[in-house]
Amino acid sequence: MKLKYNNLENINEEIKNCKKCELWKYAKQAVLGEGEKNAKIMIVGEAPGAEEDKTGKPFVGRAGRLLRNTLSSLGLEETYITNVVKHRPPNNRKPKKAEIKACSEFLIAEIQILKPKIILALGSTACEFLTGERKIKVAIEKDYEFMGAKVLVNYHPAAILRNPNLLNKFVEKIKQAKASL
Ligand code: URA
Repeated sequence: MKLKYNNLENINEEIKNCKKCELWKYAKQAVLGEGEKNAKIMIVGEAPGAEEDKTGKPFVGRAGRLLRNTLSSLGLEETYITNVVKHRPPNNRKPKKAEIKACSEFLIAEIQILKPKIILALGSTACEFLTGERKIKVAIEKDYEFMGAKVLVNYHPAAILRNPNLLNKFVEKIKQAKASL
């Protein structure tokens, strides 16, 4: 398939100027993917929150710190972290279908260029986009494939903050992702 973007810099330029949906009007800035260009594992969240909107970096708020601490405690440092939607939805509401559709070409281009071996989908928005399954509880028990990558589904770290009983399962799934590399 012909690539619309040749490299991450091209994609990021387009994301920064994107007005394909209305989210840019409410956000301070776009939040670009971040991490190793050669990462074998790509981590995909839903959309930026308040802290991400402020800093322009993905997963840097409370949930992000839980994710990043878990990754580093497991020695999983070479990752690329991004979101389905690149601008923060107002009041952290879930992104709408049309917003996900408008933004999807960027995630698809990131996957085409980075060619990760594993994609770890965090939460229901990433899960549904990458697997077609809406229920995390169903998807978390299975493996999927998306554009040549193996997709594993995990709870969103914000869900772990709300329900710490899920922490073990969350960590186990990240261990499984590491073991699949
Ligand atoms: N939640 C997400 O899904 N993504 C972020 O970048 C931050 C919080």
